[in-house]
Amino acid sequence: MNLPEPSAIRRVSIIGAGTIGASWAAYFLGRGMEVRAWDPAAGAEQSLRATVSGAWPVLEELGLVVADADPGRLQFHADPAGALADVEFVQESAPEELELKQSLYGEIDAALPANAVLASSTSGLLMSKMQAGCANAARFVVGHPFNPPHLIPLVEVLGGAETDPGAVNWAIDFYNAQGKKAIRLNHEVPGHLVNRLQAALWRECAAAVLSGLASVEDVDIAVKYGPGLRLGVMGPFEICHLAGGVGGYAHFLDHLGDALQHWMNDLEPVDFTPAVRARLKALVDSAMKGRDPAALAGERDALLLATLSTIARVRRDKGLH
Ligand SMILES: NC(=O)c1ccc[n+]([C@@H]2O[C@H](COP(=O)([O-])OP(=O)(O)OC[C@H]3O[C@@H](n4cnc5c(N)ncnc54)[C@H](O)[C@@H]3O)[C@@H](O)[C@H]2O)c1
Repeated sequence: MNLPEPSAIRRVSIIGAGTIGASWAAYFLGRGMEVRAWDPAAGAEQSLRATVSGAWPVLEELGLVVADADPGRLQFHADPAGALADVEFVQESAPEELELKQSLYGEIDAALPANAVLASSTSGLLMSKMQAGCANAARFVVGHPFNPPHLIPLVEVLGGAETDPGAVNWAIDFYNAQGKKAIRLNHEVPGHLVNRLQAALWRECAAAVLSGLASVEDVDIAVKYGPGLRLGVMGPFEICHLAGGVGGYAHFLDHLGDALQHWMNDLEPVDFTPAVRARLKALVDSAMKGRDPAALAGERDALLLATLSTIARVRRDKGLH
């Protein structure tokens, strides 16, 4: 594939500008790019511009706004073709529905310049299914971010059956050049990597409250004041390597492997029947005590900002990667 230099991209398209697309738009504007957006919802332009304004000071505080960046480089288009003309990259963040994305990809494929890569924000759909039938499907990849993409660095990148491996390499280089942390997944699986990791944790959180082991409030406290803190600074294999002391991961497995096996064998599937859903909703609603989602998102962003700034400063001061 004849793709442009990943670090030189200046014009990107945002297709679908809801929670995720609007946050991506803010991020790319902060990187000094021109952003062309399309979203069919009434009021989408206004809410996109409001998200960008809200995200801008946070991006500035994180040092993620380059010198020549200008939020005025955001254009909102009335149709997808307008938002795709002459762009070098597309971040698609339309609703998580296979048929919708399939039909959207047909439209995008026809309007997008042939040497532009499209990355889908999909949380878990398979690219092989979304790209099927597109003439130029080789440049379609998954670029799965985490909410909110303007703050969380990770992007999972992988291709589908028809994707050119060069497009996956290109997308990884592009995201990394734009200050993200991109990882490569070597094959497709529902939920990619990280949503499967989260599903394993969420299953146990649901099981714990359904069985009465702990309250919703205590499960949240357990994760955020315990393993969550550590997992923000060390990966799970690094943590287990440390848990093995001087013997490292090998001693960890020799020492605690049988216990771990016992716990793993004891885990049960959670079946989201209507009755289980109703019970979980009631338990979580009561634990949230009417907390306003906007206030909760503000709390999340303030704490994330503080965490990311501190991690960046300590890594810089101590010369860590
Ligand atoms: N919300 C999350 O935490 C999260 C995290 C990572 C990835 N994602 C993924 O990002 C994508 C978008 O999710 P979201 O949470 O932003 O949803 P959302 O509902 O907030 O936004 C989707 C937007 O797409 C627009 N839309 C509707 N039909 C469309 C079409 N045919 N073409 C283009 N846009 C259309 C809607 O008007 C809406 O603004 C999904 O694939 C989702 O799986 C979501």
